[in-house]
Amino acid sequence: MQILTHPNPVLGVRADEIDPVTDTDLRQLVRRMAEAMYEHQGVGLAAPQLGIHKRIIVFDIEDELAAICNPVIVERSEELETDEEGCLSVPGISVPIARNTAVTCEGLNLDGSRVVIVAEDLLARVLQHEIDHLDGVIILDRLTPEERKAAVRAYNEAASE
Ligand code: NI
Repeated sequence: MQILTHPNPVLGVRADEIDPVTDTDLRQLVRRMAEAMYEHQGVGLAAPQLGIHKRIIVFDIEDELAAICNPVIVERSEELETDEEGCLSVPGISVPIARNTAVTCEGLNLDGSRVVIVAEDLLARVLQHEIDHLDGVIILDRLTPEERKAAVRAYNEAASE
């Protein structure tokens, strides 16, 4: 399963809101996303990484696959934590990214019911990372120009190995 990688311009496009009740392709899409995520040992994936401009993410933090449509962060901790973060669309490197240590995320499940996820630590980080993808933002976009330059160099070196 092909995951789009930087610098594919598709990764920079904002994805569209979806209606899980009428979008009959969603379950199939979630299956493909989960397959790609597990195949590449990821903990989360967003539809734009497969070139699909829909606001849906999947993740698996504790041996349980979850999918959320139109996820929105409605509350964030003041506290930030910087940790190394990787991305299946920027394979081969990890970069330090500051994220809120806790977030509350609202969205819809595949049946169209509202879901609220109160997340901290790794799950909070994964949600922020995947929702970034829906807004066309990847980890490289969260770096200072100098950090980005170094990260892109390391990325290109990793890709040529
Ligand atoms: Ni990613």
